[in-house]
Amino acid sequence: KILILDFGSQYTQLIARRVRELNIYSEIHPFNKVPTDLDQYKAIILSGSPMSVRSEDAFHVDLNEIRGKKPLLGVCYGAQYLAHFHGGEVGASSTREYGRANLSFVENDLFLEGIEAGSQVWMSHSDTIKQLPENGMLLASTHDVKNAAYKIQGESTYAIQFHPEVYHSTDGKQLLENFLIKIANVTPDWTPDSFVEETVDQLQKQIGEDRVVLGLSGGVDSSVAAMLLHKAIGKNLYCIFVNNGLLRKDEYTQVLKQYEGMGLNVKGVDASARFMVALKGLSDPELKRKAIGRVFIEVFDDEAHEVKNVTWLAQGTIYPDVIESVSATGGPSATIKSHHNVGGLPDFMKLKIVEPLKALFKDEVRRVGKSMGMAAELLGRHPFPGPGLAIRILGDITPEKVSILQEVDAVFINNLKKWDLYDKVWQAGAILLPVNSVGVMGDERTYEKCVALRAVESTDGMTADWVNLPYEFLQATSNEIINKVKGVNRVVYDISSKPPATIEWE
Ligand code: XMP
Repeated sequence: KILILDFGSQYTQLIARRVRELNIYSEIHPFNKVPTDLDQYKAIILSGSPMSVRSEDAFHVDLNEIRGKKPLLGVCYGAQYLAHFHGGEVGASSTREYGRANLSFVENDLFLEGIEAGSQVWMSHSDTIKQLPENGMLLASTHDVKNAAYKIQGESTYAIQFHPEVYHSTDGKQLLENFLIKIANVTPDWTPDSFVEETVDQLQKQIGEDRVVLGLSGGVDSSVAAMLLHKAIGKNLYCIFVNNGLLRKDEYTQVLKQYEGMGLNVKGVDASARFMVALKGLSDPELKRKAIGRVFIEVFDDEAHEVKNVTWLAQGTIYPDVIESVSATGGPSATIKSHHNVGGLPDFMKLKIVEPLKALFKDEVRRVGKSMGMAAELLGRHPFPGPGLAIRILGDITPEKVSILQEVDAVFINNLKKWDLYDKVWQAGAILLPVNSVGVMGDERTYEKCVALRAVESTDGMTADWVNLPYEFLQATSNEIINKVKGVNRVVYDISSKPPATIEWE
């Protein structure tokens, strides 16, 4: 595996993903927490940063055990760092160094093999390397950036001022491959199949004959985590799937059947009524979330106690939830992100935690699921919030409102599938607004509910843009909703991006 030392660049996770696409496992660690056991890493990459190496509080990393001992690649800040603090010089750049540029080669080197002259690279920095460090040898330049790529003679140390990890650096992946496979001699053998094999093996060792409980949500992560554990420990995995009454139309029965078909030892618990009682009269979004979280814990805990002698709790936590992030305000303090679903689980269950997916990105979770033969339909499902339709019904929740929204949502989602748009959208759903408006149906005046449709593109939910769905699609869907769903006489489409809006309305 290889180590990526993070200086807080927005692209660090992309480096990790590109490396993994080469079938090489990579881990991100903060620059100020270099792992002590460096032997396990075959190569090291220094990321970019929002910081300047010239700033008084520039991020410093201890490279004593790395420089000259391990293959090392500095990217952007990493490249400037290697220059500035090792006999070179970094200064403010006089020309704009953002966006596309084209490489021209100064030296032939293994590092640049397979890359055409003129290859497009992506720059994003306001500092520039004015003078190479000691023993530095220039490899490539662009029109505005003389020292775009260099190496250190006598070491396997390379540095580039552009970002090989971004899509717009056409040969970025080739560069990473040259560095990792040709120069660092890393074997690219990390694949979904090998991950499954190793993880199952490791889970068997870790858990032995113990019993494990896991909460299934119908989503990709918990389902794949369950399959891995199922492969490893079979019937000792006890899955619990809670119906909170706020799922999509028919979702509870369909998904439960699907889980049973996969051979999972799963218990469905219909607690809709309990959730509805807890939600009665609540219209504040955070109070609704809290009520749902609380009841879920109660229900899950009751069910978990039904399993005798259980010692483990399995969770579908994934890598972005556990990466320690370098805080944007600088300073050496690192913050740990916690997943909003994970934080809510009760202490008093006192179970040991097992998280088989905590090293994977979302797309890798899907590939692992595929390699275990899981249905594409299940793996391709849109994300769905834990509190479900409760945060898509603005204001208080009643069974009637839930049922109206389920019908509207079903028309929207089914049409997306019918029009072959479902897989092009990252997340979609309908929102029931606390607004009545006047309409006319036949000769009669109506005064009924308004719904909003929302469909967004995103990669991680942190930023999102609305999807440009075809007018014909919107027309057909709006017609069908108003004709079929009693109580709705108006449909609108949400055209807000995140930020400044959010994906959900509450
Ligand atoms: P927002 O609305 O914050 O949503 O832009 C970003 C992503 O998070 C999901 N979301 C939630 N998921 N519990 C969850 O499990 C919640 O309370 C919650 N709120 C938002 C949302 O569906 C989107 O994918």
